[in-house]
Amino acid sequence: MTTKVKVISLIIVVCLFAVSCKHSDEHKYHTVTDKIEANSIVYKGETSSDIYNETIKKVEVKDGEFEFLIPERKSQIASYNCTECHSQPLEKLKEHKVGEKAAHWNIKLNHAGPETMNCTTCHGKNDFDNLQSLTNSEIDFNYSYKLCSQCHQDQFKDWKGGAHGKQLGGWAPPRVSNTCVNCHNPHSPQFEKRWPVRFNTTVEKERE
Ligand code: HEC
Ligand code: HEC
Ligand code: HEC
Ligand code: HEC
Repeated sequence: MTTKVKVISLIIVVCLFAVSCKHSDEHKYHTVTDKIEANSIVYKGETSSDIYNETIKKVEVKDGEFEFLIPERKSQIASYNCTECHSQPLEKLKEHKVGEKAAHWNIKLNHAGPETMNCTTCHGKNDFDNLQSLTNSEIDFNYSYKLCSQCHQDQFKDWKGGAHGKQLGGWAPPRVSNTCVNCHNPHSPQFEKRWPVRFNTTVEKERE
């Protein structure tokens, strides 16, 4: 063998070794999923999605096997605490000067129907700082999903499981999900029907 051939075969051996080493590293994982899971424990130096949800004030949901976080609501409700005004009976509050606008005039109930629902279905007959269930149990404003789940069990179960609604700040734990009232106005919960967005190809062609 000439020296040239020797050198070339040595290079080939080294290359093969390098390739096989890389290959054996791949075999640390049985499947692609294993590899993704191993690499996602620490992602870009982070071990959780906390940094993406830092600015949101959260409360904990615990329901059977489900444990996750939802945005806190009370600090977001303009007229909370309600008892700032609702410390006297409604009849007293309703005594207005002529021409004065009623409080909450902008809230129009468009949910179920008047046979099923009015303000007192959800708001305290006595305690205005809490919501109330159909059997008059207190429900904290931060946990208003409990109110909705009385009548919308299917959506509630889907929501708990993560199928209805939206997860915030990615899929890494801890899970933070929007709560019902982040998307639905409780007083008028349905969304307006609208046409799908359509790209106008006709106009585009005319311009060519
Ligand atoms: C700035 C004062 C004020 C605050 C704060 C306030 N309310 Fe009221 N609310 C009133 C007054 C006044 C009335 C009586 C309605 C009217 O003006 O004729 C009223 C009436 C109501 C009614 C009865 C409406 C009806 O038509 O029978 C409900 C329900 C209600 N308030 C819920 C709430 C809830 C829930 C909160 C807190 C999230 C709240 N209010 C905070 C002043 C207030
Ligand atoms: C289906 C249950 C339900 C009914 C019926 C209902 N509310 Fe509410 N209301 C809620 C929930 C839940 C919230 C808190 C929403 C949130 O977290 O932003 C709320 C919030 C409010 C607030 C505070 C809103 C703000 O932005 O300051 C007022 C005032 C209020 N309701 C008055 C009324 C009045 C008056 C009626 C009747 C016309 C009524 N509600 C009927 C569930 C209900
Ligand atoms: C007392 C029972 C009751 C409670 C409590 C209640 N709902 Fe409803 N809701 C109904 C009924 C009845 C309808 C009308 C029937 C239907 O469309 O499913 C309705 C309609 C809706 C719709 C529209 C459905 C559609 O097909 O367009 C949404 C969204 C909704 N509710 C969300 C909520 C949310 C969010 C809450 C909690 C803040 C809530 N509901 C609390 C009974 C209730
Ligand atoms: C991230 C936003 C979001 C959250 C959170 C959310 N919803 Fe919805 N919800 C929607 C959208 C979008 C629709 C579909 C509206 C449509 O098709 O017109 C919907 C539809 C509904 C409907 C109508 C029936 C249906 O399934 O299409 C009900 C009832 C409802 N939601 C109740 C709830 C309740 C109760 C909760 C909380 C447990 C909740 N939603 C949480 C966005 C949300």
